[in-house]
Amino acid sequence: MKNYKNPDENGYYGEFGGAFVPEMLFPNVEELQNNYLNIIESAEFKEEFGDLLKNYVGRATPLYFAKNLSEKYQTQIFLKREDLNHTGAHKINNALGQALLAKKLGKHRIIAETGAGQHGVATATACALLGLECIVYMGEVDIARQAPNVARMKMLGATVIPATSGSKTLKDAVNEALRDWINNSTTTHYIIGSVVGPHPFPDLVARFQSVISEEIKWQLKEKIGRENPDYVMACVGGGSNAAGTFYHFVNEENVKLIAAEAGGFGVDSGKSAATTFLGTLGVLHGSKSLVMQTDDGQVIEPHSISAGLDYPGIGPFHANLFKDKRAEFFSINDDEALKSAMELTKLEGIIPALESAHALAVLEKKKFREDDVVVICLSGRGDKDMETYLKHL
Ligand SMILES: Cc1ncc(COP(=O)(O)O)c(C=O)c1O
Repeated sequence: MKNYKNPDENGYYGEFGGAFVPEMLFPNVEELQNNYLNIIESAEFKEEFGDLLKNYVGRATPLYFAKNLSEKYQTQIFLKREDLNHTGAHKINNALGQALLAKKLGKHRIIAETGAGQHGVATATACALLGLECIVYMGEVDIARQAPNVARMKMLGATVIPATSGSKTLKDAVNEALRDWINNSTTTHYIIGSVVGPHPFPDLVARFQSVISEEIKWQLKEKIGRENPDYVMACVGGGSNAAGTFYHFVNEENVKLIAAEAGGFGVDSGKSAATTFLGTLGVLHGSKSLVMQTDDGQVIEPHSISAGLDYPGIGPFHANLFKDKRAEFFSINDDEALKSAMELTKLEGIIPALESAHALAVLEKKKFREDDVVVICLSGRGDKDMETYLKHL
């Protein structure tokens, strides 16, 4: 089997990836390219990061056998409980790793973008812990729909700056963050929140999130006597929780990968964020990947009920899996995600993030065998989405 795990030396996964950045940013990106592996693979970094993941974040997160959900869908369903991490989602794995890396590179100012606010909260948390200045860019629409997370970021000492262009969502926040980085390149590290952006970010973020599948392996071995499930499943915005969930299985032929994208009102509705269904080859935010764009290359404004999936691109790691049919992609509409969120709450007493509910909704679309072992990444908890849920109850 091909190596799907890591990019080549130029940051390419097949034909996707690379580093397309303005000249002003090049020294920063090159500094990262030249140093990231040496730093994060060093014994000192691994010890410090490992200690924080265990004692601060609360890892390992449980791999929970969801008995009621399994009965309903007549298969064996395990939930990887990233919702139980400190700050409530998988985002903290990457934010802490990158904040530590920034310190090693001598940067004291941190910028980040956020959609659902989970990455913003995780970054603000890491900065509070490590004594770093923190500025978070967030679309105006997302500031309104994820208000609890905005309050948390502010209490943690971050400055939250609204992005007011375009659809005023995640894409626009990334644009603003990149603009800031260009203007402050020597003092600042940009903690990108997903497996997007110029090389080495997709690989860097995937490595920090790979702890998810590393744990699934030994946890499954303990529970069912084998390391590999039949399926792993996750939602995909930019793709970081999915990359972490797939990472240690992606080169193992007997494990099938399933990704859930946000269909919004439906892929043909003109209000969608299902990039693999609607996207074509293009460059967005520093890397070549699938992008929702018009024939003349203008980005099409995406839509999803979930702020974390409301993005018109997808990381190059996933674009490559899609092109090679190594992963199967499903498009999940807003109403289907809402229904699955209600179902998990009722059957298992777990309120999922709206993003994670997209992964759960695949259970309605694909028939599994009774003895299949299906691991679903529950990327985050639903506290931030209570207002949306209450509106639709
Ligand atoms: C809980 C949760 N899950 C998933 C995502 C989507 O991001 P990614 O595709 O990088 O995992 C987000 C983004 O904010 C999120 O908050």
